[in-house]
Amino acid sequence: MAATGQEAAGQKVPVTLKVNGRTYTREVEPRTLLVHFLREELGLTGTHVGCDTSNCGACTVHLNGQAVKSCTVLAVQADGAEVVTIEGLARDGRLHPVQEGFWEEHGLQCGFCTPGMIMAAAHLLEVNPNPTEEEIRRGLEGVLCRCTGYHNIVRAVQYAARKMQERSAAAD
Ligand code: FES
Ligand code: FES
Repeated sequence: MAATGQEAAGQKVPVTLKVNGRTYTREVEPRTLLVHFLREELGLTGTHVGCDTSNCGACTVHLNGQAVKSCTVLAVQADGAEVVTIEGLARDGRLHPVQEGFWEEHGLQCGFCTPGMIMAAAHLLEVNPNPTEEEIRRGLEGVLCRCTGYHNIVRAVQYAARKMQERSAAAD
């Protein structure tokens, strides 16, 4: 007999993901969103949920090197993928330059948008290490700040771009 819609929704399927360098396998319902997988299955609550319309960008993570809104991806679609969340951005106890920039330039007020903003900014600087102010604003337009702290957010990203350039010049 064919499964009813409700039974099908209750069936679980295995999903394996590498998150912040660690591999996890969990059984999830096919309808589970990646953001819920991260928050509820893995306890990585730094990735926020700010809307139910795929609008706010608070849920932004890196999926196979791309910045994506994790509420727009099913966990099963991410099976086998590599994910980086805000918890995985610092390396060896050292903040990522974008995190440092948000700290130094007061790039947050309530902080709700901050994880998504930082993940989007970190990806922006990977693809464009020396963005103009306009490019920063455009690159972050998928993430909304309800506190409207955009000025300092732009300064934070400019700070990070400078730091990253200085560090790569020093490493040459
Ligand atoms: S939670 Fe708002 S875009 Fe994902
Ligand atoms: S700092 Fe409050 S939403 Fe951006």
